[in-house]
Amino acid sequence: MAATRTHSSSKHEVASGAKPGRETAGKSSSAQAGRNARHGGEVLRLDTVTKVYDMGPIQVRALQNVSLSVKAGERVSIIGPSGSGKSTLLHILGLLDKPTSGRIFIEGADTSQFGDAELSSFRGLKIGFIFQAFHLVPSLNALENVMLPMMLYNVPLAERKLRAENALARLGLGDRAHHLPAELSGGQRQRVAIARALVNNPTILLADEPTGNLDSTSGREVMAIFDQLHADGRTLIVVTHDPGVAGLSPRVVALRDGLIEHDGGPEHLGRSYIQNVKPVK
Ligand SMILES: Nc1ncnc2c1ncn2[C@@H]1O[C@H](COP(=O)(O)OP(=O)(O)OP(=O)(O)O)[C@@H](O)[C@H]1O
Ligand SMILES: [Mg+2]
Repeated sequence: MAATRTHSSSKHEVASGAKPGRETAGKSSSAQAGRNARHGGEVLRLDTVTKVYDMGPIQVRALQNVSLSVKAGERVSIIGPSGSGKSTLLHILGLLDKPTSGRIFIEGADTSQFGDAELSSFRGLKIGFIFQAFHLVPSLNALENVMLPMMLYNVPLAERKLRAENALARLGLGDRAHHLPAELSGGQRQRVAIARALVNNPTILLADEPTGNLDSTSGREVMAIFDQLHADGRTLIVVTHDPGVAGLSPRVVALRDGLIEHDGGPEHLGRSYIQNVKPVK
């Protein structure tokens, strides 16, 4: 369980204004991610994390003393009934929300030591997020949406544009760069969101129901993109209700009432939970 390595791109490097990688899903980024995966060191760790939402007279315990360790290059599905704490867990893992108690380590760095600015800078470089509802800015076109995550890091405009164009092209959207989100299909919107998540070249991708708003064909396309990102060595954590999606991961974490009730292979869950599990590639 203990962290076995700390990447050089630590808190210090982020604070010193290190640029995000110049490639998004390019060769050297893949090679770097591949090296991380082969190393198999711990990339994420939750240490006895509790999250309580204080609703006045009612307190909702969304997560209860959850501990979890994820290695570099792992692919993990998070499943569980509605309200079991999946999104809360993902948001806390991705530093979008803070726990009520407990700590989150990313690449060995104790994120509880970070201030807000440092936290968002660190998050922007290390973690890409993909949401069910895409969360694109409706007034910005695809290119501008993908350029957004680089704003934090003083990347010059011409380079922002080039990298965003490359990211869109890799996702097959080179000819849709100037379309507004409303002028794109659901699957295309999700691919723009994936390009945006990748443009700072994060090694960790977190997705919350990424296929939830898509038809089955677009959903399969998105999962094929995830297959590739995982093959490149990225760490992938996907919250899903879809047994077919969950079954693509060799590791499934099942939550119930804010507790981990299963952490292992999909085959142990039984058919009531995971049906039609496709073979893990
Ligand atoms: N901002 C919030 N304020 C108060 N309670 C919240 C908040 N967000 C989530 N909760 C509560 O925390 C619990 C866990 O919610 P969470 O969104 O993590 O569930 P989930 O497993 O993602 O569910 P779903 O499958 O429906 O998306 C629920 O009981 C929910 O009502
Ligand atoms: Mg949710």
